[in-house]
Amino acid sequence: MVSEKKASVAVVMGSDSDMEVMRSCIEQLESFGIKPIVRILSAHRTPHEASEFAQKAAENGIKVIIAAAGMAAHLAGAMASHSNLPVIGVPLDAGTGLGGLDALLSTVQMPPGVPVATMAIGKAGAKNASVFAVKILAINDDFLREKLEKFKNDQKKRVLDRDSAMQNCTSL
Ligand code: RP5
Repeated sequence: MVSEKKASVAVVMGSDSDMEVMRSCIEQLESFGIKPIVRILSAHRTPHEASEFAQKAAENGIKVIIAAAGMAAHLAGAMASHSNLPVIGVPLDAGTGLGGLDALLSTVQMPPGVPVATMAIGKAGAKNASVFAVKILAINDDFLREKLEKFKNDQKKRVLDRDSAMQNCTSL
């Protein structure tokens, strides 16, 4: 079920080529009942639109911005420089041969005073960005706090189940 809080998170990415990885972020948010606003905005190719989006995000009801990009990934930093909302950065591997390290450094190495909460490179970071966004929102939301608790328990159960299965296998 998608809750009323459907516009509380924005997921922005530098290119439609980022969507394959960012789909896991969007799906994870939806599993928490949050339908995010999803935009393709580029710090380099559409700088005006990107800054305008960040400037208006808070007044449009957004509470957390997730920004993903590859290569010289300045999108999360651009969001953070134009908004006081918390910005979560997801560095992506855009196939440059650097494995996403270029994007990681561009996203994480923000100057003092303009923080970006930077996740891991790629799919793990994309998923964690959504969980982190939900953790921020859950501070003031009992519904999301319960969902997070369930998420944690489900995750634990999955590992314990696999461990049991492994024990049964090796004892054969
Ligand atoms: C970045 O450049 C995008 O976030 C993407 O990861 C990368 C390549 O973009 P495309 O050339 O595939 O559009 O700005």
